[in-house]
Amino acid sequence: MTALHPPERIWWKPADRWEKLWITLAFLWAFGTFLMMPIWHFTAKQNPTGMSRRVDPAEFDRVYQEFVSQYKVGEEQGIPVVEPPPGGDVYLRASQFFWQPVLRLKKGQEYRIHMSSMDVQHGFSLQPVNMNFMVLPGWDYTLTFTPTREGTYTIVCNEFCGLGHHMMTGRIYVE
Ligand code: CUA
Repeated sequence: MTALHPPERIWWKPADRWEKLWITLAFLWAFGTFLMMPIWHFTAKQNPTGMSRRVDPAEFDRVYQEFVSQYKVGEEQGIPVVEPPPGGDVYLRASQFFWQPVLRLKKGQEYRIHMSSMDVQHGFSLQPVNMNFMVLPGWDYTLTFTPTREGTYTIVCNEFCGLGHHMMTGRIYVE
């Protein structure tokens, strides 16, 4: 009586023709999708124009306050409504649990939007167009963008940032 025979070891045997064919196809497929990354980077129009640089949160806050007092046109639920001049710099301040200010932008005009956080990491998510960017304390993330459609856009926070995370919404009007 002997114990069960172990199965025959076959891993060193040469791969069969079909196996080689499938390995080749899988490799070509993976390599093709890998090439899409650099190709897409240069040919698609999806790349954000974002630049980031170090900033002291207190300094960003100071510039933000200055920006608001210069271009404030009203208030919505205690949040300043700001209409910045087309072509200029716009400051969007994230903090637990607000996006400030409410922005009024002109369709077809270019703006440089600076985003930064005063406390923890937040996520800028523009709805309903679904554009998403990280907003970090200590970093000024600057996007150059031109709104192309009129409407009311909502900013939601898509990075869990504390108990009020789900209430952290902001607004951009394009007219
Ligand atoms: Cu801010 Cu979640």
